[in-house]
Amino acid sequence: MRLHAEGHLSAAQLEAYRVASADDRGPPTQVLADRGLPVPADPAPGAAALIRALMDEADRYLADLPGPGVAEMRHGIAQWRDGPVTAAVPARNAVVDTCLAPALAALAPDQPALAATLAAAVPHLAWITYDSYPRDQIGEAFATGHAFASLIGEEAAIPARDFDFGVFLIAPHVLYRDHAHAAPELYVPLTGPHGWRFGPGRPLVIKPAHRPVWNPPHRPHLTKVGRIPFLCLFGWTGDVAAPAHVLPAPDWPQLEALRLG
Ligand SMILES: [Fe+2]
Repeated sequence: MRLHAEGHLSAAQLEAYRVASADDRGPPTQVLADRGLPVPADPAPGAAALIRALMDEADRYLADLPGPGVAEMRHGIAQWRDGPVTAAVPARNAVVDTCLAPALAALAPDQPALAATLAAAVPHLAWITYDSYPRDQIGEAFATGHAFASLIGEEAAIPARDFDFGVFLIAPHVLYRDHAHAAPELYVPLTGPHGWRFGPGRPLVIKPAHRPVWNPPHRPHLTKVGRIPFLCLFGWTGDVAAPAHVLPAPDWPQLEALRLG
């Protein structure tokens, strides 16, 4: 009935399926053939199927990665992934509109299946430009230059308690200033190189794509986005309700003016 309502089945084809379902002696295709009706093509997958496909592909990608935090993240994913999927009502997000395509173009040669499933699922995710940081502390460039969408979480496509897993996007050259939070956090950058440091005053370290970054609770961290938009998988494995806070540092102006690569 849903396929008929969505225009994938004609009324005559729907009737043929009704007849076939009432008489299990033959396949529906035989009833369709007897009535001179074409066998319908498989309809395009719905939003929930696209989100599940991304979930599956992201977990497959994580399974091949080394380092701390990956196993914890996959454990949480396994715990929640089979829950019901709620797709978002499609809505525009300026950062997604401008930054996603170049990020996916950079990802596709390395991980074509992950890039394709991301592209298909992105319109059905609830993209948020986080507004919990005081804007004078986090800075205008980051406040308006990023977006994230949770796949699994307390208000995500797939519900979970005290766990968050999703996709994060930041515009080129933006500085995500020094900050910290109680939640243990895994970043898996899908693009790169980007800059990182783990405490105000510490040196900036350049890391390539596909090199996970695990932040234990309260570890300060900063991200300086390179020439390509920063696209990553992120996860918080606990204490997700505790807010992040900004850690002041005197060298933000120089880091914001810096251009990597
Ligand atoms: Fe963080």
